[in-house]
Amino acid sequence: MKHIISPTDLTVSELSDLLILAEEIIQNPKKYYNVCQGKKLATLFYEPSTRTRLSFEAAMLNLGGNILGFSSADSSSAAKGESVADTIRVISSYADICAIRHPKEGAPLVASIHSSIPVINAGDGGHNHPTQTFTDLLTIKNLKGRLNNLTVGFCGDLKFGRTVHSLINAMVRYDNIHFVLISPEELKIPTYLREEVLNANNISYQEVRNLEAVMPDLDLLYMTRVQKERFFNEEDYIRLKDTYILDTKKMQLAKEDMLVLHPLPRVNEISTEIDSDPRAVYFKQAEYGVYVRMALIMKLLEVA
Ligand code: NCD
Repeated sequence: MKHIISPTDLTVSELSDLLILAEEIIQNPKKYYNVCQGKKLATLFYEPSTRTRLSFEAAMLNLGGNILGFSSADSSSAAKGESVADTIRVISSYADICAIRHPKEGAPLVASIHSSIPVINAGDGGHNHPTQTFTDLLTIKNLKGRLNNLTVGFCGDLKFGRTVHSLINAMVRYDNIHFVLISPEELKIPTYLREEVLNANNISYQEVRNLEAVMPDLDLLYMTRVQKERFFNEEDYIRLKDTYILDTKKMQLAKEDMLVLHPLPRVNEISTEIDSDPRAVYFKQAEYGVYVRMALIMKLLEVA
C-alpha cells in the first residue's frame, strides 16, 4: 500500500504517469465516471480549506465514489483530545482512502503509520502539500508545455508556504531548472531546504528581495500569500503582508509568455486587474486540481 506524504513519494516516472492519466481524464471524463463505485474517500481536515477539500471530494464523486469526513478540528473528536493515530485506526474501517490536512508538520506521516488505507497529505503545517504540487506540475506541463528548462520565480512567504517547499522539492528532479526566490529577509526559504535540497543537489538558484528587477528573466512566477496563521505575532504579519503586490505595471516587465501561478487563496498579493491577463492561470490551475486528484485516487486504489 502506498501513501503520499511528500511530493517525492512518487518517482519522476510515476509522476509522469499520473499527469498522463490526468490529461486522459480531461480529454474523456465520462470514461472514468464509475471506476470508484462502492469506494469511499474520507477527508480529515483539521485546518481550513476550500479548494483542496472540495476538489478531493469532487474528484471522488466524479469517479462514482462516495465521500465522508470533517472540515474542522472543532467538529471532530480532536476537540475531545483524541490523537491522530486513534482517529485513523477507526477511519481505516470506514473508508478506502483518506486525505488529511493538519496544522502540525508530520501529522499525516503519523497517520500513515497507523493506517490500513492509503493516506494522502493534504497539507501539514508549513511543511508539505504534495497534491498542490501535482496540480502545479499538471498546470505547468499543460500550459507551458514542459517541466524542464525553466526559470521559476517564487514570490512572497517562502518560509511558511508549504506549497513552495513541496514544488521546489519536486522540481529539482527536472533538468535545467533555475529558481529565483523572491522574499523579504524574514520570509526566506527554511535552512533545511537551502542546504539539503538546493545546495546538496547543486541546484541553480538566487535569493533576492526585489521582484521588478527579476521579472524579465522569469518563465513562471509562483505568487504566494503571507501565511498569517503561522506567525507568532500579528505585528510582523501586518508589516510583511503587503510586501509584494503584482499589478499591471509589474506584468509589463514580464515575458509575453510568462505564466502567473498561485495556489490560492489570494489576499492582496495579486491585484484583481491581472485576472484578465492571459498569463494569469491561477483559476485554471485550481480546476486542474480536480483532475490530478482523480488520477491520484485511481492510482492509489489501483483502479488505473
Ligand atoms: C494553500 C495551502 O493550504 O497551503 N492553499 C491550497 O491548498 N490551495 C496555500 C495557502 O493557503 O496560502
